[in-house]
Amino acid sequence: MVVGVDRYAVFGNPIGHSKSPLIHRWFAEQTGQDLQYEAILAPADGFADSWRDFVAAGGKGANVTVPLKEVAFALAQIVSERAQQAGAVNTLYIDSSGQLCGDNTDGLGLVADLQRLGAKLDGAKVLLLGAGGASRGVVGPLLAAGVASVHIANRTADKAMTVAKLFNSQVTASGYGDIPTDHWQLVINATSSGLSQQRPDFSPEHLQSCQLAYDMMYGKEPTAFILWCRQHQVPLCADGIGMLVAQAAASFAIWRGVTPDITPVLEKMTTLVR
Ligand code: ATR
Repeated sequence: MVVGVDRYAVFGNPIGHSKSPLIHRWFAEQTGQDLQYEAILAPADGFADSWRDFVAAGGKGANVTVPLKEVAFALAQIVSERAQQAGAVNTLYIDSSGQLCGDNTDGLGLVADLQRLGAKLDGAKVLLLGAGGASRGVVGPLLAAGVASVHIANRTADKAMTVAKLFNSQVTASGYGDIPTDHWQLVINATSSGLSQQRPDFSPEHLQSCQLAYDMMYGKEPTAFILWCRQHQVPLCADGIGMLVAQAAASFAIWRGVTPDITPVLEKMTTLVR
């Protein structure tokens, strides 16, 4: 019998731009793991079939990206608490009893990157901008990392309230005009405003105590949010490239039982993107 190499993939739509194949190949090389990792384009209504075909052809696990994270959540037979809180799955694998398991490493990636940047999370007050899937996925891991509170602000206030209700009283919500006056040590942009060269529109007074402004998006140029935070003298501003690598490392660890060293891969990825 010919034993094939273990296959992994990232599913999304579109998927051509995904950096995941490169990151996971670098992790595999670094940790001496023999595996394949490819990008698979799948429409939301064809994802379940696409996943089954992949498993039948030797697929062991996958990352799932936009717009399939909620479909993957629905497909998984067992989901982690993190994925349950996020309502979304970015990591799929099959456990020893053959059950399809879903996890979500996005929040772990954010927390790991904030720690790498030297952020003091224990007891921190966090202002989280945005109330979409990206925002919902990171609230639980931020609380688990010891932050004192998370205030979710969103252009559409109702959506922020809906997300806040999924958590305990440490999590509050409002529109941008009603952000409470407080000492926000960490301000995190989880909106997709950067895609249109825009930024969440709130008063710079909320940046006064901010030690670290973080944009979960990344790109060649700084986002409008990062530029604005720099303009208002936030001491440290960072984009989400480190989160991208760190969430991938957490997925790799789930599949392979080995945690790769993020630093050299982040260096290579930064050179590639900038
Ligand atoms: P994702 O999965 O990336 O979170 P999403 O669920 O579509 O994507 O959510 C996008 C988020 O970005 C929302 O919080 C959205 O605000 P609204 O709920 O008010 O639409 C936010 N967003 C997108 N463009 C924005 C902009 N130009 N300014 C402020 N917020 C923006």
